[in-house]
Amino acid sequence: MYYPDELIEEVRMKSDIVDVISGYVKIQKKGSNHFGLCPFHNEKSPSFSVSQSKQMYYCFGCGAGGNVFTFIMEYENYSFQEAVKFLADRAGVNLPEAEYNEETRKREGRRARLLEVNKEAAKYFFYQLRGESGKGGLAYLSGRELSRETIRKFGLGFSNVSSDDLTRYLKSKGYEDKLIIEAGLASFDEKYGMHDKFWNRVMFPIQDINHRVIGFGGRVMGEAKPKYLNSPETMIFDKSRNLYGLNFARTSRADNIILCEGYMDVIAMHQAGFSQAAASLGTAFTSGQASLLKRYTQEVILAYDSDGAGVAAALRAIGILKEAGLTGKVLSLEPYKDPDEFIKNKGQEAFQERIAKAENSFFFELRMLERDFDLNDPESKTRFHREIARKLCGFGEEVERENYIEAVAQKYHIGFDNLRKLVLSCAARNGAASPAAKPKSGIRKKKDPEENKKKPQKLLLTWLVEEPYIYQKIKKYISPRDFTEDLYKKIAEKLFADLESGTVSPAAIISLFADEEQQREAASVFNTKLAPLSNRTEQEKAIHDIVVSVKRNSFEYFSSQPAADVLALNQVIEGKKALEELSKTHISLD
Ligand code: GTP
Ligand code: MN
Repeated sequence: MYYPDELIEEVRMKSDIVDVISGYVKIQKKGSNHFGLCPFHNEKSPSFSVSQSKQMYYCFGCGAGGNVFTFIMEYENYSFQEAVKFLADRAGVNLPEAEYNEETRKREGRRARLLEVNKEAAKYFFYQLRGESGKGGLAYLSGRELSRETIRKFGLGFSNVSSDDLTRYLKSKGYEDKLIIEAGLASFDEKYGMHDKFWNRVMFPIQDINHRVIGFGGRVMGEAKPKYLNSPETMIFDKSRNLYGLNFARTSRADNIILCEGYMDVIAMHQAGFSQAAASLGTAFTSGQASLLKRYTQEVILAYDSDGAGVAAALRAIGILKEAGLTGKVLSLEPYKDPDEFIKNKGQEAFQERIAKAENSFFFELRMLERDFDLNDPESKTRFHREIARKLCGFGEEVERENYIEAVAQKYHIGFDNLRKLVLSCAARNGAASPAAKPKSGIRKKKDPEENKKKPQKLLLTWLVEEPYIYQKIKKYISPRDFTEDLYKKIAEKLFADLESGTVSPAAIISLFADEEQQREAASVFNTKLAPLSNRTEQEKAIHDIVVSVKRNSFEYFSSQPAADVLALNQVIEGKKALEELSKTHISLD
C-alpha cells in the first residue's frame, strides 16, 4: 500500500458516495437509501442501492458492493491505488508522490520508456510508408481502398526490407538494446546480433484508449504466412485488456460498439463512418475486454467472420458479454466473409441496415443450437425444446425470463404454458432458476465444508453491524481471534475496536482491503439481510447458536495447531471453557 491509512480515510470522507455514484448512475431516493439500475449487471428493475449513512453501495441482484473506492475500481477498472488517486483529485486532496516505493518508481519508469520506444518506432514506420522504400506498402493499402486520410488517422506505417534499420534508428535516438528487445521490436541472436522483428510488412500501431502506442500488428502484402505478426505481450501490452480502435470508438456517438476480429475490419468500418468499431488483438475476446467495453457502452454488436470459426468465436463472446452484464447482438455479414468485404461490396448503407437488423444474441444462440437437432423427429425436437428451457433458466430476473419465454414460444411455435412448465421443471431440477451470474469472475463458489465454517462468522459480523448492542452481550465469549477466516478476522479486529469506542464506520472497514473481490465480500457482510425473527426468544436462540458455532469452529481450528504454539494453546483452553459455559448459558438480549 502506497498511501497511509489516514490519508485514504480522508479521501473517502471527502468523497460522498451518493455524490460520486450519481455521476455514473441515475439513482433516486427511496426511504433511507438511493436506488437505481445496477451498472454491473443487466437488469430492468432497480436493485442497486446506495446508502448515504453507511457510505456503501450494494446490488441485491448480483452482489456487487463496497464503498466509494470499490465502486470506482469496478466501474473504471482501476486498481485500489488508482481509485484513491482518482477520488483524491476529485476531492482536492493532495497525495504525496514520495509514497511510491522504489520498486514502483522503477516499474513506472520502465513503462514510460517502453511507451516512448513504441512511439518512436511508430513514427519511423509512418515515415517509411511515405518514403521511397515504402511505395509497395502504400500501394498495397491503396489497393485495399484505404484513403490517405484513413491511413493517417490510424497511423499506418511500413517496415522496410532491411534486417536492422529500425534497431539502428532507435539506437541512434538513445534507446538501448535491452529496451528494444523488451518492447518486442527486435531480437538478438549470437550469430546475427540485433535484428528487427518486423520486416517488409505494412504496420498497424496498436493504441490503448489514451492513444498511446502499446504494440504493433504487421501484415504481409500478399499471401505469405504468417499473415500477421503481432508484438508479444509486454508490461504495457496486455492483449486481454485492450482493443484495437477503442481509442476512437469510445468517443463515438453511436449507442453501441461493434466488435470484430480484424484490424482491417475496424479500419474499413471507421472509414465508412462506423467509428464505434473495435477488435480484439488476434486473440479470443476476454472478460477483461468486456469490462473495458462496459465503461463506454451497454450494447455490443458482434461482427465476426461468417465462417465456422467466426460463429464459434461469437458464441463464446456472447457468454462473456452476458456475464459482464452487456447486451449482445449479432450482425449477419452473409454472403460476405467479414465487415471489410461486406462494406467493399455492398457499401455503407447496406451495412447500416445490417446493424439495425442485428440479431438478439439469445436468438442467435438458439438458431445455432437448432442446427444440431432434427425438428422433424419428435424425439430430437423434444430434446431441442428441453435445451431451450435449460437456457431460459439462465435468466435470473423473472421479468426478463418471462419475456424470453413468451418470445421463444412464439418464434418456435411452442405452447407458452408448455414451455413455461418445461422451464420450471428444469429450474426445479437445478435448484431454482439460477440467479444472475456474478459479474467479473463469474465463478460461483461451490458449497463445501469451508463454506459452512465461514457462514456463522459472517453472520455474527452482520448481526453486530445491524444490532451493535449485541456486542456487549457476546464480547465475553468471542474475540477477533475466533474468526479463523483471514478476511473476517481483519473485519472483526476493526469492528470490535469500533464497537468498543462506539463509532462504527462500515465504509472505512472496506478500505482495509485493496483487492476488489475482498472488498466485495467485506461489503456483503454489511448488506446481508438477516432473516426476520419474530420475537426476542427466537433472536436470542439465533445469536446463541451463531456464537456457539463460531466458538466451536475456533476451538477445533486451534486444537489442530501444533501444541508448541502457546497462543493457540491458550485459545484452546479458553475456547473449551467458553463452550462449556455457553452450553449452560442463555444469552439475554435485554
Ligand atoms: P485481412 O486478411 O488483411 O483482411 O485481415 P483481417 O483483419 O480480415 O484478418 P483476419 O480476419 O484474417 O484475422 C483477424 C485477426 O486475427 C487479425 O486482425 C489479426 O489480429 C489476427 N491474425 C490473423 N492472422 C494471423 C496470423 O497469421 N498470426 C497472428 N498472430 N495473428 C493473426
Ligand atoms: Mn479481412
